[in-house]
Amino acid sequence: MGTQDIPINAPATSDGPTLVHRGRFVYPPGLRMNLPFYLFHKFFKPGNPILLFEHLRQFGRAAHYRILFRDVVLFYDPSDIREVLIDKAASFGKDRTQKRMKILLGEGMITSDGEAHKRGRRIAAPAFHRQRIQRYAGQIVEIADGLGAEWEAGQALNIAAEMMRLALKITARTLFDTEVTLEIQVISDQVNIVMDLYNYLVAMPRAELLLNSPLPGMRRFRHAKARLDEVVDGMIQRRRAEGAAGDLDQRGDLLSMLLAARDDQAEGDGLKLTADELRDQVLTLFLAGYETVANALAWTWLLLGQNPGPEAKMHEELEAVLAGRLPTLEDLPRLEYTAMVLSESMRLYPPAWAMGREALEDVAIGPYRLRKGTMVFFSQYFVHRDPRWFPHPERFWPERFTPEAKAARPRFAYFPFGGGGRQCIGESFAMMEATLALATIAQRWRLALVPGQTVEPQPKITLRPKNGIRAIPVPRM
Ligand code: HEM
Repeated sequence: MGTQDIPINAPATSDGPTLVHRGRFVYPPGLRMNLPFYLFHKFFKPGNPILLFEHLRQFGRAAHYRILFRDVVLFYDPSDIREVLIDKAASFGKDRTQKRMKILLGEGMITSDGEAHKRGRRIAAPAFHRQRIQRYAGQIVEIADGLGAEWEAGQALNIAAEMMRLALKITARTLFDTEVTLEIQVISDQVNIVMDLYNYLVAMPRAELLLNSPLPGMRRFRHAKARLDEVVDGMIQRRRAEGAAGDLDQRGDLLSMLLAARDDQAEGDGLKLTADELRDQVLTLFLAGYETVANALAWTWLLLGQNPGPEAKMHEELEAVLAGRLPTLEDLPRLEYTAMVLSESMRLYPPAWAMGREALEDVAIGPYRLRKGTMVFFSQYFVHRDPRWFPHPERFWPERFTPEAKAARPRFAYFPFGGGGRQCIGESFAMMEATLALATIAQRWRLALVPGQTVEPQPKITLRPKNGIRAIPVPRM
Protein backbone atom coordinates (compact mmCIF):
# COMPACT_ATOMS: atom_id res chain seq x y z
CA MET A 1 0.00 0.00 0.00
CA GLY A 2 1.60 3.30 -0.98
CA THR A 3 1.01 5.52 2.01
CA GLN A 4 4.17 7.67 2.04
CA ASP A 5 2.27 10.53 0.51
CA ILE A 6 -0.30 10.80 3.28
CA PRO A 7 0.43 13.76 5.60
CA ILE A 8 0.72 12.84 9.25
CA ASN A 9 1.26 14.64 12.55
CA ALA A 10 4.06 12.77 14.21
CA PRO A 11 5.10 9.14 14.22
CA ALA A 12 4.95 7.10 17.43
CA THR A 13 8.15 6.86 19.41
CA SER A 14 9.37 3.76 21.16
CA ASP A 15 9.67 5.55 24.52
CA GLY A 16 5.96 6.12 25.08
CA PRO A 17 2.95 7.51 23.28
CA THR A 18 3.06 10.90 21.59
CA LEU A 19 0.32 13.17 22.93
CA VAL A 20 -1.46 15.94 21.09
CA HIS A 21 -2.94 18.60 23.42
CA ARG A 22 -6.10 20.35 22.29
CA GLY A 23 -7.35 22.68 25.01
CA ARG A 24 -8.12 20.51 28.02
CA PHE A 25 -8.28 17.39 25.89
CA VAL A 26 -5.41 15.09 24.99
CA TYR A 27 -5.51 12.95 21.84
CA PRO A 28 -3.09 10.56 20.17
CA PRO A 29 -1.41 11.75 16.96
CA GLY A 30 -2.95 10.90 13.62
CA LEU A 31 -4.21 12.30 10.36
CA ARG A 32 -3.96 16.10 10.06
CA MET A 33 -6.73 16.51 7.54
CA ASN A 34 -10.38 15.78 8.03
CA LEU A 35 -11.11 12.21 6.92
CA PRO A 36 -13.33 12.98 3.91
CA PHE A 37 -10.16 14.31 2.25
CA TYR A 38 -8.66 10.86 2.52
CA LEU A 39 -11.72 9.22 1.08
CA PHE A 40 -10.33 10.21 -2.28
CA HIS A 41 -7.00 8.62 -1.49
CA LYS A 42 -6.16 5.29 -2.96
CA PHE A 43 -5.59 3.61 0.36
CA PHE A 44 -9.08 4.22 1.65
CA LYS A 45 -11.59 2.25 -0.33
CA PRO A 46 -15.12 2.51 1.01
CA GLY A 47 -16.07 -1.03 1.85
CA ASN A 48 -12.60 -1.89 3.13
CA PRO A 49 -12.16 -0.12 6.46
CA ILE A 50 -9.37 -2.57 7.36
CA LEU A 51 -7.02 -0.47 5.23
CA LEU A 52 -7.69 2.55 7.41
CA PHE A 53 -6.89 0.61 10.60
CA GLU A 54 -3.74 -0.67 8.91
CA HIS A 55 -2.63 2.77 7.80
CA LEU A 56 -3.13 4.30 11.26
CA ARG A 57 -1.27 1.45 12.96
CA GLN A 58 1.95 3.40 12.32
CA PHE A 59 1.08 5.71 15.26
CA GLY A 60 1.57 2.90 17.74
CA ARG A 61 -0.66 2.70 20.80
CA ALA A 62 -3.53 4.79 19.42
CA ALA A 63 -4.36 7.09 16.51
CA HIS A 64 -6.74 9.94 15.91
CA TYR A 65 -8.60 11.51 12.99
CA ARG A 66 -11.60 13.70 12.50
CA ILE A 67 -14.56 13.07 10.29
CA LEU A 68 -16.49 16.28 9.79
CA PHE A 69 -16.81 17.61 13.37
CA ARG A 70 -16.37 14.31 15.13
CA ASP A 71 -13.22 12.95 16.79
CA VAL A 72 -12.39 9.33 16.14
CA VAL A 73 -9.73 7.38 18.06
CA LEU A 74 -8.46 3.93 17.16
CA PHE A 75 -6.95 1.99 20.08
CA TYR A 76 -4.45 -0.81 19.50
CA ASP A 77 -3.39 -1.52 23.08
CA PRO A 78 -5.15 -4.11 25.30
CA SER A 79 -4.93 -1.87 28.40
CA ASP A 80 -6.86 0.96 26.68
CA ILE A 81 -9.44 -1.48 25.31
CA ARG A 82 -9.92 -2.89 28.78
CA GLU A 83 -10.57 0.60 30.14
CA VAL A 84 -13.21 1.29 27.50
CA LEU A 85 -15.01 -2.04 27.82
CA ILE A 86 -14.69 -2.68 31.55
CA ASP A 87 -13.27 -0.01 33.87
CA LYS A 88 -15.01 2.97 32.20
CA ALA A 89 -17.81 1.08 30.44
CA ALA A 90 -20.42 3.40 31.98
CA SER A 91 -18.89 6.37 30.12
CA PHE A 92 -19.51 4.72 26.74
CA GLY A 93 -22.48 3.69 24.61
CA LYS A 94 -22.66 1.91 21.29
CA ASP A 95 -21.18 4.10 18.56
CA ARG A 96 -23.23 5.74 15.86
CA THR A 97 -22.26 3.29 13.15
CA GLN A 98 -23.56 0.41 15.24
CA LYS A 99 -26.69 2.36 16.08
CA ARG A 100 -27.18 2.69 12.33
CA MET A 101 -27.55 -1.06 12.33
CA LYS A 102 -31.01 -0.26 13.64
CA ILE A 103 -32.05 0.13 10.03
CA LEU A 104 -31.46 -3.59 9.81
CA LEU A 105 -31.82 -4.95 13.34
CA GLY A 106 -34.28 -2.55 14.96
CA GLU A 107 -33.91 -2.28 18.76
CA GLY A 108 -32.33 -5.68 19.37
CA MET A 109 -29.62 -6.46 21.90
CA ILE A 110 -26.77 -5.33 19.66
CA THR A 111 -28.13 -1.90 18.76
CA SER A 112 -29.80 -0.80 22.01
CA ASP A 113 -28.23 0.88 25.02
CA GLY A 114 -29.13 1.50 28.66
CA GLU A 115 -32.30 0.02 30.13
CA ALA A 116 -33.61 -1.36 26.78
CA HIS A 117 -30.37 -3.29 26.34
CA LYS A 118 -30.35 -4.59 29.92
CA ARG A 119 -33.94 -5.76 29.65
CA GLY A 120 -33.28 -7.59 26.37
CA ARG A 121 -30.19 -9.24 27.82
CA ARG A 122 -31.95 -10.26 31.07
CA ILE A 123 -34.74 -11.93 29.13
CA ALA A 124 -32.48 -13.80 26.71
CA ALA A 125 -29.73 -14.77 29.19
CA PRO A 126 -31.36 -17.93 30.64
CA ALA A 127 -31.58 -19.41 27.14
CA PHE A 128 -27.79 -19.18 26.81
CA HIS A 129 -26.81 -20.77 30.11
CA ARG A 130 -24.28 -23.53 29.65
CA GLN A 131 -26.63 -26.31 30.82
CA ARG A 132 -29.41 -25.05 28.59
CA ILE A 133 -27.35 -24.95 25.39
CA GLN A 134 -25.80 -28.36 25.99
CA ARG A 135 -29.02 -29.98 24.85
CA TYR A 136 -28.23 -28.77 21.32
CA ALA A 137 -25.01 -30.82 21.01
CA GLY A 138 -26.70 -33.87 19.48
CA GLN A 139 -28.51 -31.79 16.85
CA ILE A 140 -25.30 -29.99 15.90
CA VAL A 141 -23.45 -33.26 15.33
CA GLU A 142 -26.35 -34.74 13.38
CA ILE A 143 -26.55 -31.73 11.04
CA ALA A 144 -22.76 -31.54 10.54
CA ASP A 145 -22.61 -35.26 9.81
CA GLY A 146 -25.47 -34.88 7.33
CA LEU A 147 -23.57 -32.16 5.49
CA GLY A 148 -20.40 -34.26 5.38
CA ALA A 149 -22.43 -37.16 3.96
CA GLU A 150 -23.50 -34.99 1.01
CA TRP A 151 -19.96 -34.23 -0.13
CA GLU A 152 -18.23 -36.32 -2.76
CA ALA A 153 -14.56 -37.19 -2.78
CA GLY A 154 -12.63 -35.17 -5.35
CA GLN A 155 -15.51 -32.73 -6.06
CA ALA A 156 -14.34 -29.17 -5.37
CA LEU A 157 -16.56 -27.15 -3.02
CA ASN A 158 -16.81 -23.55 -1.95
CA ILE A 159 -16.18 -24.27 1.69
CA ALA A 160 -17.27 -20.79 2.80
CA ALA A 161 -20.71 -21.32 1.23
CA GLU A 162 -20.91 -24.82 2.72
CA MET A 163 -20.18 -23.50 6.21
CA MET A 164 -22.88 -20.81 5.77
CA ARG A 165 -25.33 -23.55 4.83
CA LEU A 166 -24.28 -25.59 7.86
CA ALA A 167 -24.47 -22.73 10.38
CA LEU A 168 -27.79 -21.58 9.00
CA LYS A 169 -29.26 -25.07 9.44
CA ILE A 170 -27.87 -25.38 12.96
CA THR A 171 -29.16 -21.97 14.02
CA ALA A 172 -32.57 -22.61 12.50
CA ARG A 173 -32.95 -25.99 14.19
CA THR A 174 -31.41 -25.31 17.60
CA LEU A 175 -32.53 -21.77 18.25
CA PHE A 176 -35.79 -21.62 16.36
CA ASP A 177 -36.77 -25.25 15.99
CA THR A 178 -37.44 -24.92 12.27
CA GLU A 179 -35.89 -26.83 9.41
CA VAL A 180 -34.05 -24.87 6.74
CA THR A 181 -37.10 -24.27 4.71
CA LEU A 182 -37.59 -21.84 1.92
CA GLU A 183 -38.25 -19.17 4.54
CA ILE A 184 -34.85 -19.49 6.12
CA GLN A 185 -33.27 -19.40 2.69
CA VAL A 186 -35.20 -16.19 2.06
CA ILE A 187 -33.70 -14.71 5.21
CA SER A 188 -30.22 -15.60 4.09
CA ASP A 189 -30.73 -14.19 0.57
CA GLN A 190 -32.26 -10.97 1.83
CA VAL A 191 -29.46 -10.55 4.32
CA ASN A 192 -26.95 -10.78 1.50
CA ILE A 193 -28.74 -8.00 -0.37
CA VAL A 194 -28.82 -5.87 2.75
CA MET A 195 -25.14 -6.55 3.50
CA ASP A 196 -24.02 -5.45 0.05
CA LEU A 197 -25.33 -1.98 0.77
CA TYR A 198 -24.67 -1.96 4.45
CA ASN A 199 -21.06 -0.72 4.54
CA TYR A 200 -22.01 2.22 2.38
CA LEU A 201 -25.01 3.04 4.49
CA VAL A 202 -23.16 3.05 7.79
CA ALA A 203 -20.28 5.11 6.37
CA MET A 204 -22.56 7.80 5.03
CA PRO A 205 -23.67 10.66 7.27
CA ARG A 206 -27.47 10.87 7.44
CA ALA A 207 -27.96 7.55 5.70
CA GLU A 208 -31.35 7.23 7.40
CA LEU A 209 -32.65 10.02 5.18
CA LEU A 210 -31.44 8.23 2.07
CA LEU A 211 -33.29 5.09 3.09
CA ASN A 212 -36.63 6.50 2.07
CA SER A 213 -35.38 7.84 -1.24
CA PRO A 214 -36.41 6.30 -4.55
CA LEU A 215 -32.78 5.38 -5.42
CA PRO A 216 -32.80 1.81 -6.80
CA GLY A 217 -30.31 0.55 -4.19
CA MET A 218 -32.44 1.96 -1.38
CA ARG A 219 -35.57 0.48 -2.82
CA ARG A 220 -33.87 -2.92 -2.85
CA PHE A 221 -32.74 -2.46 0.74
CA ARG A 222 -36.26 -1.48 1.88
CA HIS A 223 -37.76 -4.41 0.07
CA ALA A 224 -35.24 -6.86 1.57
CA LYS A 225 -35.78 -5.53 5.09
CA ALA A 226 -39.58 -5.71 4.73
CA ARG A 227 -39.32 -9.30 3.51
CA LEU A 228 -37.05 -10.19 6.43
CA ASP A 229 -39.50 -8.72 8.95
CA GLU A 230 -42.35 -10.58 7.27
CA VAL A 231 -40.57 -13.94 7.50
CA VAL A 232 -39.56 -13.45 11.13
CA ASP A 233 -43.01 -12.19 12.12
CA GLY A 234 -44.56 -15.21 10.41
CA MET A 235 -42.27 -17.57 12.33
CA ILE A 236 -43.20 -15.88 15.62
CA GLN A 237 -46.94 -15.92 14.91
CA ARG A 238 -46.93 -19.60 14.08
CA ARG A 239 -45.03 -20.42 17.23
CA ARG A 240 -47.38 -18.25 19.28
CA ALA A 241 -50.37 -20.14 17.87
CA GLU A 242 -48.71 -23.49 18.69
CA GLY A 243 -47.88 -22.10 22.12
CA ALA A 244 -51.56 -21.47 22.78
CA ALA A 245 -51.77 -25.28 22.83
CA GLY A 246 -49.51 -25.05 25.87
CA ASP A 247 -46.14 -26.60 25.04
CA LEU A 248 -43.94 -23.49 24.79
CA ASP A 249 -41.92 -24.14 27.90
CA GLN A 250 -41.31 -27.75 27.00
CA ARG A 251 -39.95 -27.12 23.53
CA GLY A 252 -36.83 -25.51 24.92
CA ASP A 253 -35.69 -23.71 21.80
CA LEU A 254 -34.76 -20.07 22.04
CA LEU A 255 -37.80 -18.73 20.24
CA SER A 256 -40.18 -20.54 22.58
CA MET A 257 -38.23 -19.35 25.59
CA LEU A 258 -38.33 -15.75 24.40
CA LEU A 259 -42.07 -16.02 23.80
CA ALA A 260 -42.72 -17.41 27.26
CA ALA A 261 -40.19 -15.28 29.17
CA ARG A 262 -41.08 -12.44 31.47
CA ASP A 263 -38.62 -9.88 32.73
CA ASP A 264 -39.06 -11.16 36.26
CA GLN A 265 -35.62 -10.92 37.81
CA ALA A 266 -35.24 -8.59 40.80
CA GLU A 267 -34.55 -5.51 38.67
CA GLY A 268 -37.00 -6.48 35.90
CA ASP A 269 -40.43 -5.05 35.08
CA GLY A 270 -42.27 -8.39 35.07
CA LEU A 271 -43.48 -7.88 31.50
CA LYS A 272 -43.10 -10.02 28.39
CA LEU A 273 -41.37 -8.79 25.25
CA THR A 274 -43.67 -6.78 22.98
CA ALA A 275 -44.21 -8.01 19.41
CA ASP A 276 -41.70 -5.49 18.02
CA GLU A 277 -39.10 -6.23 20.69
CA LEU A 278 -39.47 -9.91 20.01
CA ARG A 279 -39.01 -9.52 16.25
CA ASP A 280 -35.91 -7.35 16.70
CA GLN A 281 -34.34 -9.74 19.21
CA VAL A 282 -35.06 -12.78 17.06
CA LEU A 283 -33.59 -11.19 13.95
CA THR A 284 -30.55 -10.02 15.94
CA LEU A 285 -29.88 -13.45 17.41
CA PHE A 286 -30.38 -15.07 14.06
CA LEU A 287 -27.95 -12.80 12.25
CA ALA A 288 -25.41 -12.60 15.08
CA GLY A 289 -25.52 -16.35 15.44
CA TYR A 290 -24.93 -17.88 12.06
CA GLU A 291 -22.62 -15.76 9.94
CA THR A 292 -20.01 -15.43 12.68
CA VAL A 293 -19.80 -19.18 13.28
CA ALA A 294 -19.84 -19.94 9.53
CA ASN A 295 -16.90 -17.62 8.95
CA ALA A 296 -14.96 -18.99 11.92
CA LEU A 297 -15.29 -22.48 10.44
CA ALA A 298 -14.48 -21.42 6.87
CA TRP A 299 -11.25 -19.69 7.95
CA THR A 300 -10.36 -22.72 10.07
CA TRP A 301 -10.55 -25.04 7.05
CA LEU A 302 -8.35 -22.64 5.09
CA LEU A 303 -5.72 -22.58 7.84
CA LEU A 304 -5.80 -26.35 8.32
CA GLY A 305 -5.37 -26.77 4.55
CA GLN A 306 -2.34 -24.49 4.65
CA ASN A 307 -0.78 -26.04 7.76
CA PRO A 308 -0.33 -29.83 7.54
CA GLY A 309 1.43 -30.02 10.96
CA PRO A 310 -1.49 -28.73 13.07
CA GLU A 311 -3.93 -30.55 10.79
CA ALA A 312 -2.20 -33.89 11.50
CA LYS A 313 -2.11 -33.13 15.22
CA MET A 314 -5.84 -32.41 15.26
CA HIS A 315 -6.51 -35.68 13.43
CA GLU A 316 -4.41 -37.52 16.04
CA GLU A 317 -6.56 -36.05 18.80
CA LEU A 318 -9.77 -37.02 17.00
CA GLU A 319 -8.50 -40.58 16.62
CA ALA A 320 -7.42 -40.79 20.27
CA VAL A 321 -10.65 -39.33 21.68
CA LEU A 322 -13.28 -40.59 19.24
CA ALA A 323 -11.73 -43.64 17.57
CA GLY A 324 -13.97 -43.20 14.55
CA ARG A 325 -17.34 -42.55 16.27
CA LEU A 326 -19.25 -39.27 16.19
CA PRO A 327 -18.47 -36.78 18.97
CA THR A 328 -20.87 -36.10 21.85
CA LEU A 329 -21.17 -33.38 24.44
CA GLU A 330 -19.10 -35.48 26.87
CA ASP A 331 -16.16 -35.52 24.46
CA LEU A 332 -15.88 -31.75 24.36
CA PRO A 333 -13.50 -31.30 27.32
CA ARG A 334 -11.12 -33.79 25.69
CA LEU A 335 -11.14 -32.15 22.27
CA GLU A 336 -8.64 -29.63 23.58
CA TYR A 337 -6.43 -29.29 20.54
CA THR A 338 -9.46 -28.98 18.23
CA ALA A 339 -10.70 -26.06 20.37
CA MET A 340 -7.19 -24.54 20.27
CA VAL A 341 -7.24 -24.76 16.47
CA LEU A 342 -10.46 -22.75 16.48
CA SER A 343 -9.12 -20.16 18.91
CA GLU A 344 -6.00 -19.67 16.82
CA SER A 345 -8.12 -19.39 13.68
CA MET A 346 -10.24 -16.65 15.32
CA ARG A 347 -7.02 -14.89 16.28
CA LEU A 348 -5.93 -14.58 12.66
CA TYR A 349 -9.40 -14.16 11.17
CA PRO A 350 -11.72 -12.88 13.90
CA PRO A 351 -15.30 -13.09 12.54
CA ALA A 352 -16.16 -9.89 14.47
CA TRP A 353 -13.15 -7.98 13.25
CA ALA A 354 -13.73 -4.58 14.92
CA MET A 355 -15.87 -2.97 17.60
CA GLY A 356 -16.71 0.58 18.56
CA ARG A 357 -18.16 2.79 21.27
CA GLU A 358 -19.01 6.45 21.67
CA ALA A 359 -18.01 8.55 24.72
CA LEU A 360 -21.18 9.67 26.52
CA GLU A 361 -19.14 12.15 28.59
CA ASP A 362 -15.59 13.53 28.71
CA VAL A 363 -13.43 10.59 29.70
CA ALA A 364 -9.78 9.67 30.36
CA ILE A 365 -8.43 6.51 28.73
CA GLY A 366 -4.77 5.72 29.42
CA PRO A 367 -2.79 8.95 28.86
CA TYR A 368 -5.56 10.45 26.70
CA ARG A 369 -8.42 12.79 27.65
CA LEU A 370 -11.29 12.40 25.21
CA ARG A 371 -14.14 14.81 24.58
CA LYS A 372 -17.77 13.67 24.91
CA GLY A 373 -18.94 12.40 21.52
CA THR A 374 -15.55 10.93 20.54
CA MET A 375 -15.96 7.62 18.75
CA VAL A 376 -13.47 4.92 19.69
CA PHE A 377 -12.76 1.80 17.67
CA PHE A 378 -10.52 -1.21 18.15
CA SER A 379 -9.94 -4.06 15.79
CA GLN A 380 -9.49 -7.65 16.85
CA TYR A 381 -7.84 -8.22 13.48
CA PHE A 382 -4.95 -5.91 14.41
CA VAL A 383 -4.71 -6.40 18.17
CA HIS A 384 -4.57 -10.19 17.61
CA ARG A 385 -1.52 -9.67 15.38
CA ASP A 386 0.53 -7.71 17.89
CA PRO A 387 3.96 -9.42 18.08
CA ARG A 388 4.29 -8.50 21.77
CA TRP A 389 1.68 -11.14 22.63
CA PHE A 390 1.83 -13.27 19.51
CA PRO A 391 5.40 -13.69 18.24
CA HIS A 392 5.52 -14.30 14.47
CA PRO A 393 1.90 -13.22 14.34
CA GLU A 394 1.27 -14.49 10.80
CA ARG A 395 2.06 -18.06 11.85
CA PHE A 396 -0.80 -20.43 12.55
CA TRP A 397 0.19 -21.99 15.84
CA PRO A 398 -2.62 -23.46 17.98
CA GLU A 399 -0.19 -24.01 20.90
CA ARG A 400 -0.59 -20.30 21.63
CA PHE A 401 -3.82 -21.34 23.34
CA THR A 402 -2.58 -23.74 25.99
CA PRO A 403 -3.89 -22.63 29.41
CA GLU A 404 -0.37 -21.46 30.42
CA ALA A 405 0.15 -19.41 27.25
CA LYS A 406 -3.28 -17.81 27.65
CA ALA A 407 -2.62 -16.91 31.28
CA ALA A 408 0.61 -15.12 30.31
CA ARG A 409 -1.20 -12.58 28.10
CA PRO A 410 -3.15 -9.52 29.22
CA ARG A 411 -6.94 -9.58 28.92
CA PHE A 412 -7.88 -8.01 25.58
CA ALA A 413 -4.74 -9.13 23.76
CA TYR A 414 -7.31 -11.63 22.41
CA PHE A 415 -11.02 -10.82 22.42
CA PRO A 416 -12.93 -12.45 19.56
CA PHE A 417 -16.12 -12.29 21.64
CA GLY A 418 -15.65 -8.75 22.98
CA GLY A 419 -15.76 -8.23 26.74
CA GLY A 420 -17.37 -6.56 29.73
CA GLY A 421 -21.13 -6.21 30.17
CA ARG A 422 -21.75 -6.63 26.44
CA GLN A 423 -19.59 -9.66 25.89
CA CYS A 424 -21.08 -12.00 23.29
CA ILE A 425 -24.06 -13.78 24.84
CA GLY A 426 -23.60 -16.67 22.40
CA GLU A 427 -19.92 -17.40 23.14
CA SER A 428 -20.39 -20.81 24.79
CA PHE A 429 -22.92 -21.80 22.18
CA ALA A 430 -20.60 -20.72 19.35
CA MET A 431 -17.58 -22.57 20.78
CA MET A 432 -19.59 -25.73 21.34
CA GLU A 433 -21.11 -25.54 17.86
CA ALA A 434 -17.83 -24.84 16.06
CA THR A 435 -15.83 -27.50 17.95
CA LEU A 436 -18.43 -30.23 17.46
CA ALA A 437 -19.02 -29.35 13.79
CA LEU A 438 -15.28 -29.27 13.05
CA ALA A 439 -14.66 -32.58 14.84
CA THR A 440 -17.62 -34.25 13.13
CA ILE A 441 -16.64 -33.23 9.61
CA ALA A 442 -12.90 -33.77 10.16
CA GLN A 443 -13.63 -37.35 11.18
CA ARG A 444 -14.79 -38.06 7.66
CA TRP A 445 -12.86 -35.58 5.50
CA ARG A 446 -9.76 -33.51 5.14
CA LEU A 447 -10.07 -30.57 2.82
CA ALA A 448 -7.30 -30.01 0.27
CA LEU A 449 -7.21 -26.43 -0.97
CA VAL A 450 -7.57 -25.94 -4.71
CA PRO A 451 -4.12 -24.64 -5.73
CA GLY A 452 -3.56 -21.18 -7.18
CA GLN A 453 -6.40 -19.34 -5.41
CA THR A 454 -5.89 -16.15 -3.42
CA VAL A 455 -8.19 -15.85 -0.47
CA GLU A 456 -8.76 -12.29 0.63
CA PRO A 457 -10.53 -11.18 3.80
CA GLN A 458 -13.50 -8.95 3.18
CA PRO A 459 -14.62 -6.91 6.17
CA LYS A 460 -18.40 -6.67 6.04
CA ILE A 461 -20.18 -6.75 9.40
CA THR A 462 -18.25 -9.99 9.80
CA LEU A 463 -14.93 -10.90 8.22
CA ARG A 464 -15.69 -13.07 5.21
CA PRO A 465 -13.41 -14.70 2.65
CA LYS A 466 -14.03 -12.45 -0.36
CA ASN A 467 -14.52 -14.92 -3.18
CA GLY A 468 -15.04 -17.96 -1.01
CA ILE A 469 -12.54 -20.79 -0.44
CA ARG A 470 -12.27 -23.65 -2.94
CA ALA A 471 -11.38 -27.01 -1.44
CA ILE A 472 -11.53 -30.68 -2.43
CA PRO A 473 -12.78 -33.25 0.10
CA VAL A 474 -10.37 -36.15 0.60
CA PRO A 475 -11.80 -39.12 2.57
CA ARG A 476 -10.08 -39.98 5.87
CA MET A 477 -11.85 -43.22 6.59
C1 HEM B 1 -17.71 -17.30 16.45
C2 HEM B 1 -18.89 -16.78 16.69
C3 HEM B 1 -19.15 -15.43 17.30
C4 HEM B 1 -18.33 -14.34 17.43
C5 HEM B 1 -16.89 -14.19 16.97
C6 HEM B 1 -19.11 -13.31 18.10
C7 HEM B 1 -18.60 -12.06 18.45
C8 HEM B 1 -19.29 -11.12 19.18
C9 HEM B 1 -18.73 -9.87 19.68
C10 HEM B 1 -17.30 -9.38 19.45
C11 HEM B 1 -19.70 -9.23 20.36
C12 HEM B 1 -19.56 -7.89 21.11
C13 HEM B 1 -19.93 -6.70 20.27
C14 HEM B 1 -19.77 -5.39 21.03
O1 HEM B 1 -19.61 -5.38 22.24
O2 HEM B 1 -19.80 -4.33 20.37
C15 HEM B 1 -20.89 -10.03 20.27
C16 HEM B 1 -22.10 -9.68 20.82
C17 HEM B 1 -23.24 -10.43 20.66
N1 HEM B 1 -23.33 -11.71 20.13
FE1 HEM B 1 -21.82 -12.78 19.35
N2 HEM B 1 -20.36 -13.78 18.35
C18 HEM B 1 -20.43 -15.07 17.88
C19 HEM B 1 -21.53 -15.92 17.97
C20 HEM B 1 -22.75 -15.57 18.47
C21 HEM B 1 -23.89 -16.45 18.57
C22 HEM B 1 -23.88 -17.93 18.20
C23 HEM B 1 -24.93 -15.69 19.06
C24 HEM B 1 -26.34 -16.08 19.36
C25 HEM B 1 -26.94 -17.13 18.96
C26 HEM B 1 -24.42 -14.35 19.29
C27 HEM B 1 -25.17 -13.30 19.77
C28 HEM B 1 -24.64 -12.09 20.18
C29 HEM B 1 -25.43 -11.02 20.76
C30 HEM B 1 -26.94 -11.03 21.00
C31 HEM B 1 -24.55 -9.97 21.08
C32 HEM B 1 -24.89 -8.64 21.73
C33 HEM B 1 -24.66 -8.75 23.21
C34 HEM B 1 -24.89 -7.43 23.95
O3 HEM B 1 -24.66 -6.37 23.39
O4 HEM B 1 -25.26 -7.52 25.12
N3 HEM B 1 -23.10 -14.32 18.93
N4 HEM B 1 -20.61 -11.20 19.57
